[in-house]
Amino acid sequence: MSIFGLVQKITIAIDGYSSCGKSTLAKTLAQKLHYNYIDTGAMYRAVTLYALRHKLIDETTLEVNVNELIKKLPDIEISFEFNTATHHSDVILNGENVEKEIRTMQVSERVSKISSIKEVREKMVTAQRQMGKHKAVVLDGRDIGTHVFPKAELKLFMTADMDVRTKRRMDEYSSKGQYFSFEEVKQSLMQRDYDDINRIESPLIKADDAVVLDNSELSREEQLEFVLKLISDLQLIANKEEQAKH
Ligand code: DC
Repeated sequence: MSIFGLVQKITIAIDGYSSCGKSTLAKTLAQKLHYNYIDTGAMYRAVTLYALRHKLIDETTLEVNVNELIKKLPDIEISFEFNTATHHSDVILNGENVEKEIRTMQVSERVSKISSIKEVREKMVTAQRQMGKHKAVVLDGRDIGTHVFPKAELKLFMTADMDVRTKRRMDEYSSKGQYFSFEEVKQSLMQRDYDDINRIESPLIKADDAVVLDNSELSREEQLEFVLKLISDLQLIANKEEQAKH
């Protein structure tokens, strides 16, 4: 059965480590299936940018003024806007397109602290559930399959070799005119993984029913093919269950 024959709209949750290609796969899938894509990491990055701009992060110690940030949470409005040039959604912080500003090393190095704050997570998760409530959605992040949408019909847990991930992130930075050494980028990724796995609030963990996708040696096309096959299998099972009812 063709994937385009999908009648049942589903929720696709993609979790995994930093720089594993989650968002690339999620964007491609969303485009292919005509689903919405929600980049939940971009939301935590936008809160981090807000905290930086409002001097709520000490530049020397990197300590966050948590109480002040919590007080300011009602003033933080995050949404997505479709970009007709890139055909992907950009993140909007209080009316400003900050898609570029949230992808810097400065934000990357501070986002783990911000995303470990319970009140920040509660606000983001509420918004994510609201945006995804009609299904037909692909979300990528760290806690989608375990916490945001634990009943998602398809859950993927993405991983890849650390050196492959480092190289990918270096290429991403350099394509934006930001240059860092291999070791600097690797350290930053390892630190982020450590923080994501070890935080108290919704740590990064594979959901029991998630399918592991190690894409160290897979092309984008191969990854897409793998997931489309999973979706098509799901659809067949759903159809069989439906037929058994009649
Ligand atoms: O996917 P990313 O690298 O843009 O995510 C940025 C950070 O946000 C990442 O270090 C962990 C955090 N994050 C999270 O805690 N929960 C999510 N659902 C998504 C991202």
